[in-house]
Amino acid sequence: MDVTKVGVLGAGLMGHGIAQVSAQSGLDVVLREVDQETLDKGVGKIEKQLGRAVEKGKLEQADADGVLGRIQGTTDCGDLADCDLVIEAITEDLDLKVEMWKELDGIVKDGAVLATNTSSLAVIDQAAATKRPEAFIGLHFFNPVQMMPLLEVIRTVTTGDEAYKTGLEFGAKLGKTVVEAKDKTGFIVNRLLVPYMLDAIRAFENGTGSIEEIDIAMKGGAAHPMGPFTLLDFVGLDTTKSIADIMFDEYRETRFAAPPTLRKMVAAGYFGKKSGRGFYDYSGEKPVAVDPGV
Ligand code: CAA
Repeated sequence: MDVTKVGVLGAGLMGHGIAQVSAQSGLDVVLREVDQETLDKGVGKIEKQLGRAVEKGKLEQADADGVLGRIQGTTDCGDLADCDLVIEAITEDLDLKVEMWKELDGIVKDGAVLATNTSSLAVIDQAAATKRPEAFIGLHFFNPVQMMPLLEVIRTVTTGDEAYKTGLEFGAKLGKTVVEAKDKTGFIVNRLLVPYMLDAIRAFENGTGSIEEIDIAMKGGAAHPMGPFTLLDFVGLDTTKSIADIMFDEYRETRFAAPPTLRKMVAAGYFGKKSGRGFYDYSGEKPVAVDPGV
């Protein structure tokens, strides 16, 4: 299927990025949120990033206007009816996702491909909730979607060749580096990245190094763009814990178990950058590492 119109469900951290890169690749986009205020926030983020690119001379104003013009914001699921590909990027909650797919199944045209951007749930559990599991794939983007080159395209047991090919071609159209991953919880990247971040917390817990030292070490010694604690705060401690819990449930391997420090910080509401405090405090001009003291 030649995708020319993409539906994106959810205009949050991932959804707004997916909508932006799709529109930047010349595709028409329908971006759906549950209410106008949340939708405006998501579209506002896209406007801000396009504005910055224009300021930096990386994009012409006319091209930025073109990108925005290709994004139709909506709160009505009915507007997704004639999309060729619909990607969900809503809250990482299986019940919510299944409920939403059941509604959309009766709305989106036959022949369209349905995709989930889940970072940790098995794709099959959403595919099986629709009447067209052969048309269902996983498309796992990385944060920030605008900057991260990778797209994992996931084939689950029910996925047909045509839907899978559509996913691979869509990734190529966006200019992403596409890797094929099996429908195994965490796919490739989170299967490796999440235990690494959890291990950084364990290294801190057992006194191997301080938060800053571990971050400096992994930046300078392994050429990572961010140290593990900066990355934990960036991804969100709540998100990381939720992914870890799902992976632990699935595999029962201790490397996926959330360390006590993570569990307590999430319980305290220290979610990372988005809440103003995680392993760093973001209230000042520069982030300052804070000992979680747990
Ligand atoms: N959204 C969009 N663009 C952003 C951004 C954001 N949140 N943050 C930075 N950028 C852009 C900037 O606008 C800038 O763009 P230009 O080069 O076009 O001007 C560019 O990124 C570089 O920005 P900075 O110089 O300010 O910062 P940087 O060089 O440190 O890069 C970064 C920022 C790209 C985020 C980099 O630090 C990085 O790659 N970090 C690692 C991110 C990572 O590992 N992501 C994966 C998370 S795991 C995941 O997503 C999977 C999951 O399921 C949980």
